[in-house]
Amino acid sequence: MSIRFRLNGRDVEATSVDPHEPLLHFLRARGLTGTKEGCAEGECGACAVAIVRTGPDGKTRYVPINSCLVLTPAVHGLELVSVEGVASDDALHPVQLAMVEHGGSQCGFCTPGFVVSLFAEYYREGRQLGDYDPESIGGNLCRCTGYRPIRDALVSLRLPSDDDPHRARLRAEAPKPAALSYEADGVRFERPIDLASLFSILEAHPNAKLVSGGTDVVVEVNHRDARFDVIVALDGVAELRGIELTEQTIAIGAGEPLAAIEEALHGKVPLLDQLWPLFSSRLIRNRATLGGNLGNASPIGDSPPALLALDATAVIASKHGERTVPLDGFFTGYRKTILAPGELLRAVRIDKPLPTIQRFYKVSKRVMDDISTVAGAFALTLAPDGTVAKARLAYGGVAATPARAKDAEAALVGKRFDAQSVRTIRPLLERAFTPMDDHRGSAAYRKAMVTSLVEKLAFELTSGAIEGFEHAEGTR
Ligand SMILES: Cc1cc2nc3c(=O)[nH]c(=O)nc-3n(C[C@H](O)[C@H](O)[C@H](O)COP(=O)(O)OP(=O)(O)OC[C@H]3O[C@@H](n4cnc5c(N)ncnc54)[C@H](O)[C@@H]3O)c2cc1C
Ligand code: FES
Ligand code: FES
Repeated sequence: MSIRFRLNGRDVEATSVDPHEPLLHFLRARGLTGTKEGCAEGECGACAVAIVRTGPDGKTRYVPINSCLVLTPAVHGLELVSVEGVASDDALHPVQLAMVEHGGSQCGFCTPGFVVSLFAEYYREGRQLGDYDPESIGGNLCRCTGYRPIRDALVSLRLPSDDDPHRARLRAEAPKPAALSYEADGVRFERPIDLASLFSILEAHPNAKLVSGGTDVVVEVNHRDARFDVIVALDGVAELRGIELTEQTIAIGAGEPLAAIEEALHGKVPLLDQLWPLFSSRLIRNRATLGGNLGNASPIGDSPPALLALDATAVIASKHGERTVPLDGFFTGYRKTILAPGELLRAVRIDKPLPTIQRFYKVSKRVMDDISTVAGAFALTLAPDGTVAKARLAYGGVAATPARAKDAEAALVGKRFDAQSVRTIRPLLERAFTPMDDHRGSAAYRKAMVTSLVEKLAFELTSGAIEGFEHAEGTR
């Protein structure tokens, strides 16, 4: 069976593609060398291509992603625009002109990636003149021009004309995911589009490697030469998608890209609103999923502490049906979860009412686009008299798994949350975890952060440092 997709308005068909081959290499090997390889791990954005996808608003849009982290067969049935497809009729596209006019390029290595990200921003539904989203180029790095001219190019973007062919394309639906099953060089690639087919594949291949957005797995493929006998791509499975909001609960499909969750839940869960800007870059969030962030069970993943603080539930599916477990019981050890062979995470559920106060702190070497040294996610439900009815103090980076400081949580109940009560729970926080040293931070530093972040919360709450605290954006 061959891989088929649309690229720059033309149909592409390929057979015998190594299932481990990243899209970036596939494109470059076929002469589309405008798409560059800088890091092969999602850090630089030089490899950005845009996919045509339906957004949470139900409308078709261009979504930039890192082609270095997408396995080629995972684009089967999709539609893509690479930098070569941005301009038409030998004239520069308006975003390319903006880069030229504002001096946004020197050596030019990063430029194709910026152009693709600007291209997606240019066609953003509802964008007004002078209105720009700095995060739209947040995953693109430039080492020589400096960001001011590139930002100027972004700010200067005009609105697309009525006869713009790329704009016209967005009036039609985005392609639906298509199933794919083939073998090349002894490696099987399966891309089911429903759960029933997924489970029969898993029955036949219980040790298959699941790949969702691929932003963890393909880094391993590119840099650690990870190879699998059977790869099962989850990105086409309909039942893993969607975000449902009811009076009682919020259910998020494990295969929903983080950027789509960010958009669909904007303003509804303050803790998540604070988390997303600190989670990698928009380019990564356009492809990465919650299933992948929880499924990799990294002790420094950012969504686990946030979801632990929200008392989230993991919805686990297998061919035998579904079971739910509190996320608190999902992680069983370093990079281990409760998932048995044949099971996967189908969704994450957050029950309402949401806690009164919610706060996410990420301690990292850089504010943006960096991995956590320690993350703290805190949620307090207050009783009518202002005392704590329920407390959740959840952390990443201080134990083998994301974890809660349960003794300290219990000790806060019935008290006012202030500097005094934090002093009282200090010994409990100090005993809660035995972190390890690594290159991101010493054990002593991490231990200090466990208490220090709770003190920071108390300070911010009691000093009025942040007005409308529970709705504040970002942190640090
Ligand atoms: C440049 C860069 C920056 C990053 N920054 C951050 C950051 O700031 N914070 C952070 O937390 N992470 C970060 N990450 C890590 C990564 O992006 C996240 O962990 C992401 O959520 C993984 O999702 P994915 O869909 O891409 O996972 P994949 O790579 O597809 O899968 C990851 C793991 O989860 C398993 N898996 C996937 N879906 C399921 C499922 N439904 N059920 C069970 N198992 C499943 C896979 O088998 C695999 O073992 C970064 C990565 C990169 C490359
Ligand atoms: S090559 Fe750097 S993000 Fe893909
Ligand atoms: S122009 Fe040289 S890296 Fe950006």
